[in-house]
Amino acid sequence: MKKLFVVSLLLVLSLVAFSRVTITMTAGAVGKELEVLYAQIDRFMKANPDIKVSVMPMPNSSTERHDLYVTYLAAGEKEPTVFMLDVIWPAEFAPFLEDLTADRSYFELDKFIPGTVKSGTVNGKIVAIPWFTDAGILYYRKDLLDKYGFKNPPKTWDELVKIAQTITAKEKNMYGFVWQGARYEGLVCDFMEFLISYGGDVIDDTGKVVINSKASVDALQFMVDLIYKYKVSPQAVTTYMEEEARISFLNGQAVFMRNWPYAWSTLNDPKESKVAGKVGVAPLPAGPAGRSAATLGGWMLGINKNATPEEKAAAKKLVKFLTSYDEQLYKAINAGQNPTMVDVYKDPELKKAAPFMVELYSMFVNAEPRPRTAKYSEISDVMQKYLHAALTQQMTAQQAIQDMAKDLNKVVAGR
Ligand code: GLC
Repeated sequence: MKKLFVVSLLLVLSLVAFSRVTITMTAGAVGKELEVLYAQIDRFMKANPDIKVSVMPMPNSSTERHDLYVTYLAAGEKEPTVFMLDVIWPAEFAPFLEDLTADRSYFELDKFIPGTVKSGTVNGKIVAIPWFTDAGILYYRKDLLDKYGFKNPPKTWDELVKIAQTITAKEKNMYGFVWQGARYEGLVCDFMEFLISYGGDVIDDTGKVVINSKASVDALQFMVDLIYKYKVSPQAVTTYMEEEARISFLNGQAVFMRNWPYAWSTLNDPKESKVAGKVGVAPLPAGPAGRSAATLGGWMLGINKNATPEEKAAAKKLVKFLTSYDEQLYKAINAGQNPTMVDVYKDPELKKAAPFMVELYSMFVNAEPRPRTAKYSEISDVMQKYLHAALTQQMTAQQAIQDMAKDLNKVVAGR
């Protein structure tokens, strides 16, 4: 009898092992992102013993990640099964992604912030499910602003320069303002914020390139001046991505930082941060146009069209799990990445862990999208090239904008 039991147990176990499907998923690793994902995947695999998920960590630079994806997809590979997609990519990658339109209610998309669902919708088809949303925000040292008598964070860029100069003149070895100035996607995000706050834009609603404007030149000139004229940003920002800025701020080396929400959870972790409890968050300052702007960022999950039906079914379960209420809340609290489901913002636990997410909710929902087109990556490459040339003083801001406009017109016209 006992023997029979053991034999049947072995049979069942081998059947499970035999029918176990393995899927792969790409992942980012800024701040606590990757360790949080591993904990989530463990939970998922415990609840779904027939699915094995193997995580493929990717470069943090969105631009490098994009180029890797192009290689996988152009080769028609069936892996990765699940793609972590930047909000700017669905239009370009849609032909390679599984159509999830019929799964709208399975993923409960009616409960999501409508703008995030729009980012994953291409020509009426849903190709990616919103995982977390992002908007550029200003981090500031509350303790230092208090110490020097500044009651509030700056409302304008000019005020930011003034406060940064005042504090760095007195405090040793501190930068005034760190941001993302390396030649990659993050630079475009930062520039868009300055640009819109100066009253400019890249491409208008009719698809016309409108970058060649005084507002663009002034906005870019201001970024250059932050480094060389006002000297509130170190020259090293021209090599900074998100993580370099975050580490510098976390080590107590900067008064202000432009970054995404993810930085919050590590900045307030006393085990790794020198500034835990001393950090405030505010909307980015306004420019001469009288308005402040935050670039809309965020990441979505899409499924590889070339995966097998079993892999696709497993991938759907994983995407549903990761984008569920509980997992979004867990991610927001532990990795600082903003939920895409509306109700999560009403959860008292979120308010306790990351109050700014709740207080600045309308800012997150109204963040400015980058141009929505399948040619976005080409547009961004052109912008990165000229923005960086101006920031490293190889070109004047005026020349950079003029040449950028010429090249953007060529991209848009398909030449
Ligand atoms: C963040 C944003 C993403 C953006 C990237 C730029 O990851 O979520 O949308 O493209 O930063 O570095």
